[in-house]
Amino acid sequence: MDRIRIRGGRPLSGEIKVGGAKNAALPLMAAGLLTDQRLTLSNVPQLADVRTMTLLLAQHGIAVDPVTEDGRALSLGGAITGTEAPYDIVRKMRASFLVLGPLLARVGEARVSLPGGCGIGARPIDLHLKGLEQLGARIVLEGGYIDARVRGRLKGATIVFPFVSVGATENLMMAASLAEGRTVLANAAREPEIGDLAAGLVAMGARIEGIGSDTLTIEGVERLGGAEHAIIPDRIETGSYACAAAISGGSVFLRGARLDHLGATVRILREAGVDIDEQAEGLMVRRLNGLHGADVMTEPYPGFPTDMQAQFMALMAVAEGASMVTETIFENRFMHVPELNRMGARINVHGASAIVRGVGGLSGAPVMATDLRASLSLILAGLAAQGDTIVSRVYHLDRGYEAVECKLAACGADIERVAG
Ligand code: EPZ
Repeated sequence: MDRIRIRGGRPLSGEIKVGGAKNAALPLMAAGLLTDQRLTLSNVPQLADVRTMTLLLAQHGIAVDPVTEDGRALSLGGAITGTEAPYDIVRKMRASFLVLGPLLARVGEARVSLPGGCGIGARPIDLHLKGLEQLGARIVLEGGYIDARVRGRLKGATIVFPFVSVGATENLMMAASLAEGRTVLANAAREPEIGDLAAGLVAMGARIEGIGSDTLTIEGVERLGGAEHAIIPDRIETGSYACAAAISGGSVFLRGARLDHLGATVRILREAGVDIDEQAEGLMVRRLNGLHGADVMTEPYPGFPTDMQAQFMALMAVAEGASMVTETIFENRFMHVPELNRMGARINVHGASAIVRGVGGLSGAPVMATDLRASLSLILAGLAAQGDTIVSRVYHLDRGYEAVECKLAACGADIERVAG
């Protein structure tokens, strides 16, 4: 398994191109199931998860053809020839579950493996299933698979989510697009990726009101057509590289980054002493003076994203003073803490909160990636540490970050991927 070696102590300086958002690309690819025309997506990130979703769509008969050499534009289309999403794909990528709503809406049936657990939490899918039942689906759980069927078309309904769920909002918005009548999704997620999926669906002919708000109203249509859609830049990649610039004491231009998608991340990073300057084509991120501790609580958008929690904790590990990091979305998203402490960080976890006491410096060490965002937090710590840090199990990283070592090396980091 590949590892990444970083020798810390070099301030980053240069430019990083922000890629397309992973968490918009995956639902938009699933939306390709909703039409028998061609859906062309551009600004597609080159990630392991995108390749997994391509494999899954092929199981259903949907071909995903590269439009450009670099595969950053994909054309999806084809007749649905299979409605089963197998365990060996779903267990690798939970976002596979996003084919359930589209399959059900398009052909009236789907057999999708339950995603099973994941490192950061149990991550049940009860809201997805309850919502689909409200739209008229019959859901049976057997042998670890969800068997969903509907006679005729799904019927619009009013669905009130008890708490915000990105995936449930996406699955149900896609299903409702082809349902008969009106569907209202109340307490819907408002992440920019939801808005991007909605924009893609509207381009395909869906009728969706309230985009960007917590109440989405969808008037179902008989069929959806093809469309061309450019995926928004990845706000989590943006925040991650902003932390890289800050923790290394450097300055990096994040080309293509959008300030308006960063929500509370901007406020919190600025509070911690990170200088973020919006420019015509992106964001200039610098650390002019010292970093200082800032408290943060993860919340649904526009609050501070749970997907930025591990990265921010690495930054706070070398800030002056203490910071309290509270994780409210997932029950087990502190697996990076013991690894950061191996590098000399002083972090104590108490239930859903972690107290981070900033230290003068970290020391390089062999550490293990445990999940996607934790992997990046270890690389950030490595950028600031004295000596070498070797991050193992970087397959976690490759799921959601494109060519991290190349992007950071281009800004002067002493970093390389070590095969084996
Ligand atoms: C999406 O996951 C993202 N993944 C996650 O990003 C992100 O952390 C998460 O949203 C929160 O923002 C993709 O978009 C592919 P949720 P999702 O449904 O949809 C509970 C990354 O690093 N819940 O908003 O699975 C759930 O357990 C990944 O890129 C239920 O209880 O997240 C969690 O505690 C990690 N029942 C909370 O809600 C349900 O039916 C939020 O989950 C659904 C969710």
